[in-house]
Amino acid sequence: MVYNKGMKILGIETSCDETAAAVVEDGVKILSNVVVSQIDIFAAYGGVIPEVAARSHLEAMLPVVDKALEDAHCDWGDIDAIAVTHAPGLLGSLLVGTLTARTLAILHNKPLYAVHHLKSHVYANWISDGQKDDFPSFPLLALVVSGGHTQILYMPGHNQFEIIGTTHDDAVGECFDKVAKILGLPYPGGPSISKAASSGDADKYKLPHPKVAGLDFSFSGLKTAVLRTVQKELGVPISYPSHQLKDLLSAQQVNDFAASFQKTAVAILVEKLKKALEQYPDAKSVVVAGGVSANAELKKQVHEMVSSLASGEPEIRAYFPALSLAGDNGAMVGAACYFEIQSGVEPVDPYSLNIYPRISIES
Ligand code: KG4
Ligand code: ZN
Repeated sequence: MVYNKGMKILGIETSCDETAAAVVEDGVKILSNVVVSQIDIFAAYGGVIPEVAARSHLEAMLPVVDKALEDAHCDWGDIDAIAVTHAPGLLGSLLVGTLTARTLAILHNKPLYAVHHLKSHVYANWISDGQKDDFPSFPLLALVVSGGHTQILYMPGHNQFEIIGTTHDDAVGECFDKVAKILGLPYPGGPSISKAASSGDADKYKLPHPKVAGLDFSFSGLKTAVLRTVQKELGVPISYPSHQLKDLLSAQQVNDFAASFQKTAVAILVEKLKKALEQYPDAKSVVVAGGVSANAELKKQVHEMVSSLASGEPEIRAYFPALSLAGDNGAMVGAACYFEIQSGVEPVDPYSLNIYPRISIES
């Protein structure tokens, strides 16, 4: 497929609890970016309920697509292709986005592309309002940190991904969410832990780093370590129900636990990233991707680590997506699709596109 410059892609994303659509030009310039979050609904439950998420996507999907086109001052004639997240994610949620994209592709006779969610998070690092001229250079290492994944990827070039490290159990975002629950902080845990941590003492509680070989991670032990340390601090037995601990914690204790946990979780990530840079000395840049990339402590520790390494020329640069693009959104889907097309990826059949709730980025 040959496109002229000014290629406009409509990106659609519904893998979890955000209904999102955006128009992106040439993979890097945002023309619109509409995200309807279900966070308010799930804050009341303390987590995502898949059936409720799918139903909310159904209600929001078409108005979100219409708004994305309207904000971009586009009609269907201006759109060159449709891109949609088909993997991984919640089954019902993925279905709403893909069925919508399939129908729109058939109706408006547009090529349809299926994009892996983690690729999209990585490509959020290429997007801006069109002013940016500094892009990550290859080969690079990508630290992917979201609610469902924690991986280090080696990318020799565009659209080439090799998983060199992955978590054996919980994802780091999931760990933030679980620790927030123990501390009585609202869902999603990442932002609420960050906020509490800003008034806490990060050195107050010593939490262990897991001993995991190579570039792999483990976060379930850290969550349990927080639980045990809270119980010890409060002088209650380990059989004490975890959901009742929050009633015994003072505001200062919550802040101190949040800060100590955040510092440890981030240090674990940065330690492995540093090890990865030592093992892949040809890496020219680091990109951080996924919801946890919004974390200010992570940003600080990654930049410090990278600048402490950069003795040679050219220096390794670290990139983070704009805060508005760290969580799930349609713009990153459009961007990833553009670079897939440039790499020779062909459109999929809109009559048969399937979803893959658990498929790896390598497949
Ligand atoms: O990428 P994302 O929006 O959805 C998935 O693909 O999973 O990531 C959501 C995760 C949640 O676990 C949330 O708690 C975490 O990202 N998160 C953060 C922050 N903002 C969101 N974690 C740490 N610090 C933050 N500021
Ligand atoms: Zn995501």
